[in-house]
Formats: sequence, structure tokens, C-alpha cells
Amino acid sequence: MIAKAFLNITHRRPKLRTFFWKSLYEFLAGRFRNREWQFMNFGYAPQPHEEEPMPTLPEDQVSNRYCIQMYYHLASQVPVEGKDILEVGSGRGGGANFIYQNLKPSSMTGLDLADKAVDFSNKNYQGESLKYVQGSAVEMPFEDNSFDVVVNVESSHAYPSMEDFLSEVKRVLRPGGFLVTADNRHSEKVPVWHQQLETSGMSIIAEKDITGNVQKALDDDNARKESLVQKHVPSFLRKYIREFAGMHGTVMYNDFASRRRIYKSYRLQKAD
Ligand SMILES: C[S@@+](CC[C@H](N)C(=O)[O-])C[C@H]1O[C@@H](n2cnc3c(N)ncnc32)[C@H](O)[C@@H]1O
Repeated sequence: MIAKAFLNITHRRPKLRTFFWKSLYEFLAGRFRNREWQFMNFGYAPQPHEEEPMPTLPEDQVSNRYCIQMYYHLASQVPVEGKDILEVGSGRGGGANFIYQNLKPSSMTGLDLADKAVDFSNKNYQGESLKYVQGSAVEMPFEDNSFDVVVNVESSHAYPSMEDFLSEVKRVLRPGGFLVTADNRHSEKVPVWHQQLETSGMSIIAEKDITGNVQKALDDDNARKESLVQKHVPSFLRKYIREFAGMHGTVMYNDFASRRRIYKSYRLQKAD
């Protein structure tokens, strides 16, 4: 409730908004240093009638299946093998590491605003061509035309300006490169979000309403999350962490169930 009120106030104050999100993710990365917690998205599960193939995971990654599937849903839409990939909003690093270990990119770079999340990622995942860098989505510390694909999972809602983010994506992508992005918005903000993407100077190649896929993942993963909350989270923080994780009974979960909040994925391409 407090966070919601604060977000409403910061809606027209981009600097305050950035301060709020940075503080939250710095706190989470500093407070919860457990290596098991690698992802911070709500997850993705194909519906029974969908025939979307999903990766077979090694034993130690099965518990992260739904969060990994969100990454796979995006990354499987674009050429990754042998390409230079950037993830904007890489969080605790699990998604970039999954792409690096499994989809054979030439290089994988994660960018995140929260220093502690970047430190956590660099400490836990290493690879010759894998790195995590601190920086902002609206002012990326990269040269023009540096990447073939930008991946962006559940992060753009926090940016001070969606237009500036998209202009930065277009700048760092090579001609013909792709942006694959997935996130959620309140239903009344979806048309504005869509228009921001449509007027980004890149072309929308594909889009999908994945609210049902996210809700299925939240349902299927709820019991596992509850046992992690019981094990790792002190009781005074449990209510907030359950909300953050979109667990049963939370405002977030109910908003997806009633479609007051919509989750979508998009694939955009920069012109050749
Ligand atoms: C919900 S988490 C998702 C993390 C990751 N993509 C995942 O799925 O596990 C959102 C991430 O976006 C990052 N973020 C928020 N605002 C940002 C900004 N302006 N620039 C870069 N990263 C930002 C946060 O620090 C956080 O790590």
C-alpha cells in the first residue's frame, strides 16, 4: 500500500521513481544473498492448448523452471547463437547466465541499475564472454551498434522514461538487430505502452498477451515460493515479499487474475 502510494506520487517525478526502484533492488540484493535466488520475474508457463516448446533443464535448474521459461519464451524468438546479446535489467543475473550457458551467444552482457545486484551476479556467474555491468537503461554505457539482440524482462515499468530506453536500445543495436521485451502494465496504461513501442523507430514484428501464461506460472510455482518464504524471510517482511513475488492472495496476483494488470511480450526489429 505504501509502495503503491509512493509509486503514484513518483509517476510524474522520474528521478524519484528511479530512486525508489534502485533502493528496492539494492535492498533485496544486499539483504538476500542466497545464491539459490537467481531470478526476479513472475515466470511463464505455456497453456495446455499451446504448443510452445520449452527447454529441458538440468536437475539444479528445475526449481527455476518458470522464470527460465520467461527468458526462453523471448530468446527463442530471435537468433542468439554466435551473437552479441545484452540484457537490460539483468537483476540477480540468472537469466543472462541461462542464455550464456545454454544458447551459445558469442557474448552476453547484463546491465542493471542496482550495484549490489551487479556485484551478486559477477560473483555468482563467470564466463569468458559473460559480464554484468552497472548502468541505467536510459543512458547505457555502450557504443552505438554494439549488440545483435537486447533482452528485457520485467524491468521497463521501472524506467524514468520508456521513450529514452527505446531510443537507447535502437542506438546500441546493430542494423537488423532485435529487442525482445516482456513486462506488465495496468490495463489502462497498455495502449500508451503499445504506442511507445510503435513509435520507437523500430518495427513491432510480434506481440503476445501472456497474462494467462504468467498467471499459470504463478499458480504452478506458488507452493515452492511459499516454502522459500517460510525458510528465508523474517516474518515482518513476508507480506511484502509475497506481494513482490505475486503469490496467491496478493494485489498483484488478483490484478492478473481479473486482467486489471496485463502482461505482454514483444519482438521489435531495427531496420537494416
Ligand atoms: C523485477 S527485476 C527483473 C530482473 C530480471 N530481469 C529477472 O527477470 O530476473 C527488475 C530489474 O530491473 C532493474 N532496473 C530497474 N530500473 C532500472 C534502470 N533504470 N536501468 C537498469 N535497470 C533497472 C532493477 O534493478 C531490477 O534488477
